[in-house]
Amino acid sequence: MSKPKIINVCGARPNFMKIAPLMHAFEASGQIEPLLVHTGQHYDEKMNKWFFDELQIPAPDINLEVGSGSHAVQTAEIMKRFEPVLLEHDPQAVLVVGDVNSTVACALVAVKLGVPVVHVEAGLRSSDRSMPEEINRIVTDALSEQLFVTEPSGIENLVAEGVARDKIHMVGNVMIDTLKRFQVRADESTILEKLEVAPRSYVVLTLHRPSNVDDPVVLERIMSAVETIQRDKPVIFPVHPRTRANLAKGGSIDLSAMGNLRLIEPLGYIDFLKLTSSAGCVLTDSGGIQEETTIVGVPCLTIRENTERPVTITDGTNQLVGTETERILDAYGKTLDADFAPRQPDMWDGRAAERIVNVLADWLCRTPAVAAG
Ligand code: UD1
Repeated sequence: MSKPKIINVCGARPNFMKIAPLMHAFEASGQIEPLLVHTGQHYDEKMNKWFFDELQIPAPDINLEVGSGSHAVQTAEIMKRFEPVLLEHDPQAVLVVGDVNSTVACALVAVKLGVPVVHVEAGLRSSDRSMPEEINRIVTDALSEQLFVTEPSGIENLVAEGVARDKIHMVGNVMIDTLKRFQVRADESTILEKLEVAPRSYVVLTLHRPSNVDDPVVLERIMSAVETIQRDKPVIFPVHPRTRANLAKGGSIDLSAMGNLRLIEPLGYIDFLKLTSSAGCVLTDSGGIQEETTIVGVPCLTIRENTERPVTITDGTNQLVGTETERILDAYGKTLDADFAPRQPDMWDGRAAERIVNVLADWLCRTPAVAAG
């Protein structure tokens, strides 16, 4: 009897660390045939190929090469190019991760062709529908047949939205599987020497959310706080392409006056993990970095009004600080004297992918309708 086939989808940088442990777990289990589709949503080497090499992700079986566009164009283009792939390969399920445009686009195509959707990192909600990712999360979860959650809030949110309890599985966090697997390699990274900074003596900044970087007023408020912080400690800022383009527009932000702010290109996974693990503090608007800083025990100031990952606040090192200059500076001042230790939310133990593959093998092999495709 042939093995059930699953098509796994990745497309943008935060997908790669989630898909990596799943591909490894499929291989280790040997019960399911995994195919990997890369939509090409992120295409720069720095945002993309480096991660495949470092995280030892097998080369994608299919690359849709969609590139950038407005949300509608990008989503539509992924859908147009994914449909023939699905028809050709006829898998028993499509697995999507996270909340990017590739996630929702491929989920929509699959469900309309009658192929069950599996969502890894389901149930997260910021309750902020102005975030494109929140729309992607809500739609993907509504379409999914099997939903794997990382934290208790995920179960509560899905149940409140009417998802049957038996479709929801608490399995831990695949992003943390990757962190734990590569922590030793990260220890060996020489990025601190290259940047000439000592452990705990600097701050890391990342910004890419449209609500923070596309609005010049908000970006200016944030950068005004950064201006003060860089007078205290060097601020290392790996700049996302969207943010670089907005900073290049100039306006009233004068980067040349911030001598201790270091703009660098986006880093690979291993160097970035070393950089954040050794930082005195991380300022970010990313989702995944809130989780990673929790595990490595570094204070994280999240430059947003909400988070879809509340466990990083209740059981982690994360704080929401919004985008007002004074509030960011106030929180920064308080973290300097505080003592932070690594925290581990329930089941963030490096074995989430293994649990997911076990559930899927059980489901695909025992459910006749699914197994028949
Ligand atoms: C996407 C995800 C977001 C994720 C982020 C991490 C959605 C809705 N958003 O946002 O959830 O946190 O990735 O990086 O899917 N660009 C390049 N090179 C690239 C990729 C993008 O130059 O390799 C440029 C694009 O041309 C575009 C901008 O960066 O102008 C934004 O790219 P896009 O894929 O639309 O969204 P992100 O902001 O990266």
